[in-house]
Amino acid sequence: MSIKNICCLGAGYVGGPTCSVIAWKCPDIKVTVVDLSVERIAQWNSEKLPIYEPLLDDVVKECRGKNLFFTNDIKTAILEADLIFISVNTPTKTFGNGKGRAADLKYVEGAARMIADIAQSDKIVVEKSTVPVRAAESIQNILYANNKPGVTYHILSNPEFLAEGTAINDLLYADRVLIGGENSGAIEQLCKIYEHWIPRKNILTTNTWSSELSKLAANAMLAQRVSSINSLSAVCEATGADVSEVARAVGLDSRIGSKFLQASIGGSCFQKDILNLVYICECLNLPEVAAYWQQVIDMNEYQKSRFTAKVVQALFNTVSGKNIALLGFAFKKNTGDTRESPAIYVAKTLLDEGATLNIYDPKVEESQIFKDLTHPSICESPEQVRKTVKVCEDAYSATKGTHAIVVCTEWDEFMVLDYKKIYDGMMKPAFIFDGRKILDHEKLLEYGFHVQTIGKQLRKPTPPPRMTNNHHV
Ligand code: NAI
Repeated sequence: MSIKNICCLGAGYVGGPTCSVIAWKCPDIKVTVVDLSVERIAQWNSEKLPIYEPLLDDVVKECRGKNLFFTNDIKTAILEADLIFISVNTPTKTFGNGKGRAADLKYVEGAARMIADIAQSDKIVVEKSTVPVRAAESIQNILYANNKPGVTYHILSNPEFLAEGTAINDLLYADRVLIGGENSGAIEQLCKIYEHWIPRKNILTTNTWSSELSKLAANAMLAQRVSSINSLSAVCEATGADVSEVARAVGLDSRIGSKFLQASIGGSCFQKDILNLVYICECLNLPEVAAYWQQVIDMNEYQKSRFTAKVVQALFNTVSGKNIALLGFAFKKNTGDTRESPAIYVAKTLLDEGATLNIYDPKVEESQIFKDLTHPSICESPEQVRKTVKVCEDAYSATKGTHAIVVCTEWDEFMVLDYKKIYDGMMKPAFIFDGRKILDHEKLLEYGFHVQTIGKQLRKPTPPPRMTNNHHV
C-alpha cells in the first residue's frame, strides 16, 4: 500500500509550510492540515496567510482546494489519513516540575489522545514536533493503551530542520531528511513521500532515539557557534579587533566553515530546545553535560543584556523620558514570528528604564507587538505599555524626533533607508545602535550619527555635530 492521505495536526510555522510543500510535490496525495484554532485555519483559507514566509503564498495558492486542505474538522481528517504528522507546539514549561526548562508535551499528548480516540484503521504516526528524547515512547503508550481491536500504529520520528524565513527553500532543498523508527515498512512509506523531490541518498534513517536526539543536537550545536562568536564579540569590543574580520578569518578554515558565525544582539528560536536538552541531561544525571549546554544559553542572555546596557550607557546613562525607535521586532528577517525575539528583551529593558518607544517591523502586526510587551512575564502594567509604546507604519515615522535608533532585526529594507533624512529628523546628538551589524557604519558616522555595534569599536562621528540653539540632549 502507498500513502494516499496525509493529515497534519498543527497548522503552524512547521505544519503549514511542510504540508504545503508535500502537497505541491506529491499531487497524488491528499494533504489535510488541521488545527484546534478556528482563527488560524480561517487565515490559512484566506488571502492573508497566518504566517509570512517567502514563496509560501505561491505554493499554497497552487495546491489549496486541489490536494491541500486546511480545516478544523480534525475527526474526518484523522479517520481518512494513512499517515498523521504531529506538528503541534512544544513550548518551554511555564509551571511545575521543569518550569522554564523542560518542553511542555501537553499538546503532543493531546494530539496522541485525539488519534487514539478517533482512529478506526491502521496509522503511521509521525512525530515532527521537536521533542525530548524518548517522547515517541509516550505517544506509543497513549496509542496502545487506548487501542481499538484491529488498529495498528507505527510511530516514526521525523524532526524538521527548516529555518523560519527560508522555510520553503529549506524544505525543497533539504540537506537531509531524517527518519527514525523501528518498523522498516513504515519508514519506507515515509521515505517514498520525500522521494518525490529529495534524492534518496539525502534521506537518513536511524533508530527513533537517535532521530529525536539529533534534532536537539543540531540546534544545540548551531546555537553553540552563535554563542561562541558572540562571546568573542565582547573581546573584540574590549580590544579593537573586529568580530566580522575574526569570523571571516576563522570561517575560511574548512574545518570550521563560515556559516553561523555572525555575531549579533543574541536571541534565537533555539533557546527552548537547548533548555530542553539541559533539562534532559539533568534528569539523566549528567550534570557536567547540562552545565556545558547551559553556558550556551547563558552567553545568549549575556549578549542581549550587554547590548542593551550599552544603549543605556551611551545615552548618558539615562533613557528616562527619551524616545527611542526600535527597527525590527521579529526574531529574524523574513518572518513575522516574535517568539524569543531579542527585540522583546530590548524593549522591556528600555521601558523599565523609563523610555518611550516607537516600533516598526515590516511583518509583525501591531496586535502581536502589544501582546508580547503586555505579557505578564514582561510587564506589570499593560496600560503603561499602551501609553509608552507606539507602533509605526514605516521606519521614517518611527525614527522621527527620537533620540536613538536600535536595529533589532536584520530586515533588508533597513540597509537601504535614507539615513541622512533620518538623521536630520532626529534629536541631537543622534544615536544608532546596530544590533545586527547590517548598516554602513562609516556613512552613518559621516552623517553625524553616534554609532555603536556589536564586536567593533567605532570612532566618533565626523564632522562633529554643530552646536546650535535648538540642540536637545
Ligand atoms: P506553532 O505554535 O506555530 O504551531 C503549532 C500549532 O499546533 C498551533 O496552531 C496549535 O493551535 C496547534 N495544535 C496544538 N495542539 C493541537 C492538536 N491537538 N490538534 C491540532 N492542532 C493542535 O508551532 P511551530 O513553530 O509550527 O512548531 C511546531 C513544532 O515544530 C515544535 O515542536 C517546534 O519546536 C518544532 N519546530 C519548529 C521550527 C520553527 O522554525 N518554528 C523548526 C523546526 C521544528
